[in-house]
Amino acid sequence: MTSEIIGAAIILAAGKGTRMKSSLPKVLHEIGGRAMLGHVADAVMELNPQAVIVVTGKDADEIDAFAISLGSSINTVTQSPPLGTGHAVQQAAPLLKTISGAVLVLYADTPLVTGNTLKTMAGEINRGAAVAVLGFTPDDPGAYGRLKQNENGDLIAIIEANDASDQELAIRLCNSGVMAVEAEFLKRQIFELKNDNAKSEYYLTDLAEIAVAKGNRCAIVETDDEEVLGVNSRAELAVAEAVFQDRKRQSVMDAGATLIDPQSVFFSHDTSLGRDVTVEPNVVFGAGVNVGNNATIKAFSHIEGAQIADGASVGPFARLRPGASLSEGAKVGNFVEIKNAEIGAGAKVSHLTYIGDASIGAEANIGAGAITCNYDGFGKHKTTIGKNAFIGSNSSLVAPVEIGDGAYVGSGSVITKNVEPGDLAVARGRQAAIKDWATKFRQAHKK
Ligand code: UD1
Ligand code: MG
Repeated sequence: MTSEIIGAAIILAAGKGTRMKSSLPKVLHEIGGRAMLGHVADAVMELNPQAVIVVTGKDADEIDAFAISLGSSINTVTQSPPLGTGHAVQQAAPLLKTISGAVLVLYADTPLVTGNTLKTMAGEINRGAAVAVLGFTPDDPGAYGRLKQNENGDLIAIIEANDASDQELAIRLCNSGVMAVEAEFLKRQIFELKNDNAKSEYYLTDLAEIAVAKGNRCAIVETDDEEVLGVNSRAELAVAEAVFQDRKRQSVMDAGATLIDPQSVFFSHDTSLGRDVTVEPNVVFGAGVNVGNNATIKAFSHIEGAQIADGASVGPFARLRPGASLSEGAKVGNFVEIKNAEIGAGAKVSHLTYIGDASIGAEANIGAGAITCNYDGFGKHKTTIGKNAFIGSNSSLVAPVEIGDGAYVGSGSVITKNVEPGDLAVARGRQAAIKDWATKFRQAHKK
C-alpha cells in the first residue's frame, strides 16, 4: 500500500534525561526488556524506511553503540549543543539528500508509539499534506505545544506553551512531538527556522505554520495519552512498562493463549506463545522465550532464554535459564532449575533438581534431588543422559560424564565414571545392619 511508504525516520535522543538519576542514558532504559530506543526503532521499521537517523547528544557512545546494533539502515548524528527540536533535525538533514516521501520525526523517550499510527501519519503525507502531527488531548495540557486548527480541522500552527496567548493556552488538543514531514519541504525549510521565541530554540513545530503560509495542507492524526506517554523519570518508566505489559497480554490472548490471571504474568518484548498455551498466575518471562502449542506454564515459574516445545509442561515454581530447551511433551516440575540443557521428548524432571550443561534423552526420568555437578570452580562440563535412562533420587552426576541409554543410577549415587547402556550404577556406601544395636544402645542409656 503506497500510503504506508516512508523515506526516513529521525529519532531524537539528544536530551540529557537527568530526572532518571541514572548512569545509563535515559533512552537505553528498558521496557519489556528492550531499550526504549529499540521500541521506537521497531515501530519505525514496520514501515521499511530507507534510512533511520538517531540524533544523540555529546558523550553518547552507549546510545551510538546500541543504535548501530539495530541494523545497517541506522545512522547516528551528534547534536551538540542541543538548541531545540528543529536544530536536532537540522543535524540529520545532510543524510536525507536522496530521500523522498514522508520523513517521520519521533522521540526516543516516547516508546509506545505503534507502527499503525505511524502508517496513518505517513499516509497523510503521501496524500499531499506537507506536515502531519500526532495530536492528543491530555487531562492537563500544561507545557505541551497547542494545535491550532482551521474550520476544517486542519492544523494551521503549533504554538509552544511558553509563547502562547491565554486564548491559545485554552486549546486542549496538544502536540505529542511525533511528526511526519514531506521530504522535499523538510529539506527546503529546515534551515530557515528562526529561534526568536521564549526559549531561544529552533522549534521543529514552526514547520506547520511555514507550510500553511506557503499554501500547503497540514494534517492532525489523533491518539490517546497512553500511546504518546513520554518517559522522564523512573515513575513514568513504570507507567510505560505497565502499558506495554497490558498490550502484550492482550496480544498473546488474541493469538490463542490462555492467561488465567493476565495481570500477574509479565512478558518480555520478544516472548512468543503458541496456540492453546495455558499460563497460570505469577509467571515471569525474561528475554528469548518461545513456547509451542498446547504447552502449560504453571504458577510461579521464571523463564528466560528457553525453548519450550509443543505439549511440554513447566512448573509450578520452575526456573528455566538461558539455553534450556524442552522437547515435545517434556515435563519440568517444581523447584527445578534448568540451564543450557536439552530435555528430550517426554522426559521428566519432576522435583527439586538442577540440570546444567546437559543433554537428557527422550523418556528419561530424573529423580527428585538429582543434580548435575557441572562446575569445578574453573570450567563447565557436560552431562549426557541417554534415552529411557533412570536417575535415582538424590544422585550427583559429576561432569563430564555419560549415562547410557536405558541405564539406571541408584539413588544417592555420586557418579564420576560413565555408565554403559542398560547397566545399573550404584556409587554410595553399602548398607550394613548391626543386629539389635539400637535396642541395646537405648537400654544402656536407661536410667
Ligand atoms: C516538544 C514540542 C512540543 C510538544 C512536546 C511533547 C517543540 C518545539 N516542542 O516540547 O510541542 O508538545 O515536545 O513532549 O518541538 N531533543 C533533542 N535535541 C534538542 C531538543 C530536544 O534531541 O535540542 C529531544 C529530547 O531528547 C526529547 C525531545 O526532543 O526527546 C523533545 O524535547 P523537549 O525538550 O522535551 O521538548 P518540549 O519542550 O517538551
Ligand atoms: Mg518535553
